[in-house]
Order: sequence, then structure tokens, then C-alpha cells
Amino acid sequence: MTVGSGKTRNDGTRGMMDGMTRTKPFLAALGGEVIRPAPLWLMRQAGRYLPEYRALRAKAPDFLAFCLNPEMAAEVTLQPIRRYHTDAAILFADILVLPFALGHPVTFEAGEGPRLEPLTTRAQLDRLDMARAVEVGAPINETVRRVRAALPADVALIGFAGSPFTVAAYMVEGHGSRDFAAAKALMYGDAPLFDALMNHLVHATIAYLSAQADAGAEALMLFDSWAGVLSPAMFDRHVIVPTARIAAALKARHPHVRLIGFPRQAGGSLIAYAEGAGVDAVALDTAVPPAWAAAALPRNVTLQGNLDPLALVAGGDALRDETEGVLDAMGDRPWIFNLGHGVVPQTPPEHVAALIAQVRAKR
Ligand code: CP3
Repeated sequence: MTVGSGKTRNDGTRGMMDGMTRTKPFLAALGGEVIRPAPLWLMRQAGRYLPEYRALRAKAPDFLAFCLNPEMAAEVTLQPIRRYHTDAAILFADILVLPFALGHPVTFEAGEGPRLEPLTTRAQLDRLDMARAVEVGAPINETVRRVRAALPADVALIGFAGSPFTVAAYMVEGHGSRDFAAAKALMYGDAPLFDALMNHLVHATIAYLSAQADAGAEALMLFDSWAGVLSPAMFDRHVIVPTARIAAALKARHPHVRLIGFPRQAGGSLIAYAEGAGVDAVALDTAVPPAWAAAALPRNVTLQGNLDPLALVAGGDALRDETEGVLDAMGDRPWIFNLGHGVVPQTPPEHVAALIAQVRAKR
């Protein structure tokens, strides 16, 4: 590992060199340094493409119980680290653990994805219970403690949550959707109720992520997977503003913790997000031209991304060429190599090994 041109910055804690960032390239890059080869991890690096994940998952029929079992969750968090020694581990959990912990009905049916009770009334909102969330969510913090204690010295630990909009979208819609039409109907048709739900989720997310930081998470990521269904005005209101509130609260409580935001399919709003959401790094989805992002997004924001997960399935020349395209675009910016969305189940694990070798061979 070489520390490149050492572009450290003096804006608050970013660019600060402490013992931790010196030994963890991922944290150094999040702090604003140019690290080459680029630090690397993969969204959904733990999961069904790994036989060792499938073997453990087969012992836990219920997915949420699996997420809330610290022994099992810690083990699957560590599986990709043992195999590939990526530069960061991501807590194994799900973005829908938080609404479940708040008392909102959530289930995962095999092969169907999540099912939630559609939230459409004030009475359902009033049933969300922060005290219950602290208790039900406690095993997550235990998983964080266990993983942190077990990680190699150069690997950082990422905690995460869904962003309030994406979590609200699932809670109102009741399931995944291409356009989240029901969620947006409530957003436009009953703004006071939707805003109250968003406000509740902002507070719950701050408490949930703050507890992960207390337990040992060194970076926190906000997944806004459905940010791309919003108009620019609604993107500002339900993505940028709530993310900035969460970022400000977390930075006040944990000045050294790094924040990564993933506003998937944000389109041209990506610039406003990078400028205004208060995150240290922006994760780019597959459709963002990496060279455009490198030129257009503010220099004090680290970029992360953005190889097409389906190129990772294809392997061979397609994977090599797509990877080279991302690597060439990084230039001298602080960058963390990743995918543009999560690893998909049909990914051959040996393609992941080939990808990592290529990224680490790049100077
Ligand atoms: O390795 C990691 O990245 C950490 C674990 C993680 C999971 N989900 C595990 C999981 C993370 C960070 C998530 C985030 C998540 N969950 C998002 C945001 C990122 C994205 O993909 O857009 C979203 C939208 C969800 C909601 C969710 N969870 C869906 C829609 C599904 C079903 C679809 C699917 O991939 O199966 C899940 C289930 C889920 N979450 C699985 C895993 C490994 C598969 C469940 C299983 O093992 O049966």
C-alpha cells in the first residue's frame, strides 16, 4: 500500500492522520487521502453467492432472526474477509431491521423479498416504539463488538442503516416496487403523515447508528436505494435534508466516525447531495459515469464505486475492461473501489478474487 500524493485536508476531522487511519487504508481514503491501490470492499460482500453463507443461512429459516443472532451475523460478516481480505467489513444485517425493531410488522418470505404491513394511518405511526427498538436492536451492537474484536488490524468496520426515505418507502408500500407508487401517493397526498414518519425515522436512525458507533463501527453507511424515484424537489426534502440532519447529529456525537451516503439513481441531484448531505463519501451507482463524478463532485468528498455487479457475474474480458474503466477514471481523487450496487447471488466467487487482484495490481 502506498499513500499517494497525501492530499490531507484541514476541514475539521477530515484528513486527520491518527493511528487508525495509518493502519486502515479504507479509513484513510474516507479521511480524504489518495490511497493506491484503492481500498476496496463490495456491497453485499456477505451473502448467497458464498457457499459458506448458504450453509449457515440454511440453519436459520427466518432471515430477521438470522440478522439478530450475533454469533451467526458476526460469522457471516467475517466470511468475505477470510476469503478476500477486503479493506472493510460491513455489519451483516438489513435495512429493514430498524422498522422491525420499532415494532412495525416485517417478514421475509423465501424467494419473495420483504413483506411489510403497509403504513397508511397515524395510528400505525403512533405504534412505532423507540424504547422497543433499543431492546430489539441490541443484538446488532453485540455483532458489531464481536466483529470489531475479530477483524485483522488493517480492516475497518462499517455499520449501516437504510436512509429514512428508502425505509419509509418500504413501510408505506409494503414490499419492493419499481416506482413505489403507493409510497409516493402518501408522500404527495398526506404530507403531514409522511413527514411525521420521516421525522420519526430520522430520530430512530440517529439512535440506531450512534449505538453502532459506540459498539465499534468506524464508518457508517446510509443506503438510499430508492432515492431515484423522487423528483428534484422531493429529493431535496426527503433525501438531502434528512441525511444532513442525521450526519450533523452523528458527527456531533462521534466526531471521528466517517459517513458514506448511497443515493442510488440520484441523477443530476448527485451534485446537490454531495454538497449538502454532510457525508464524507458518496457511493456511486452503476449508471454514474465515474469520470464525470470525478470532475463534477466536490473535491472534499471521497468517491466510492462503481463497477456493474453484472460484469462481476460475467467475468473474463468484460469484467477486466469494465474494471479498468473505473480504475482509469479515479485519477488522483480519494476513491474506494466498490460495485455500483450489491453482489448478486449468481456471482462466481472466483470472479470476485480476479477483480480484487486486478484492483490491487493497479498503481
Ligand atoms: O454484505 C452486506 O452488504 C451486508 C448486509 C446487507 C443485506 N442487506 C443483507 C441481505 C445490506 C447492507 C443490506 C441492505 C439492503 N437491504 C438494502 C440496501 C442496498 C440495496 O441492495 O439496494 C435493501 C433495499 C434491503 C432490503 C432487502 N433485503 C431486500 C429487497 C431483500 C430481498 C432481495 C434479496 O436480495 O434477497 C433483502 C434480503 C437480504 N438482505 C439478503 C441479504 C444477504 C438475502 C436474504 C437471504 O439470505 O435469504
